[in-house]
Amino acid sequence: MKTLPEWSTQYAVGVPELDEQHARLFSIARRLIDACGDEKPDTRLLGILTELKDYTLYHFRKEEEVMAAAGYKGLEYHRQMHEFMAARLDFLTKQLRHGLLEKNELIEFMESWLTEHIIMEDMRYIPAVTAAEFDKGYP
Ligand SMILES: [Fe+2]
Repeated sequence: MKTLPEWSTQYAVGVPELDEQHARLFSIARRLIDACGDEKPDTRLLGILTELKDYTLYHFRKEEEVMAAAGYKGLEYHRQMHEFMAARLDFLTKQLRHGLLEKNELIEFMESWLTEHIIMEDMRYIPAVTAAEFDKGYP
């Protein structure tokens, strides 16, 4: 059975709160992938998927707040990516409830979301967010 890497500093965006949240998302996702190996029924998987969805929405709100406060120009685009991912998580949950979920599809989505999204998209807000943090040091 596949597994996700653990969160490590290579995924750090430099905002401690967001890094902690990303690390927690990685750990929930690792449990989720682990639960994909369970024999039926899918109760544990559904519980973890729901936990992941709730925590993801909380994290997205926080991340969007940080980007907005920094005046990050890519905010609208990034928000759309978040919406897309939240919708995808909803859809995967519905599929699971109806016994239609392809577990490989779920695993692939988790992998590409957590590694590619964070590497490609989250990294792009680092300069703006870091500059905003730095400016806070001025009286
Ligand atoms: Fe993001």
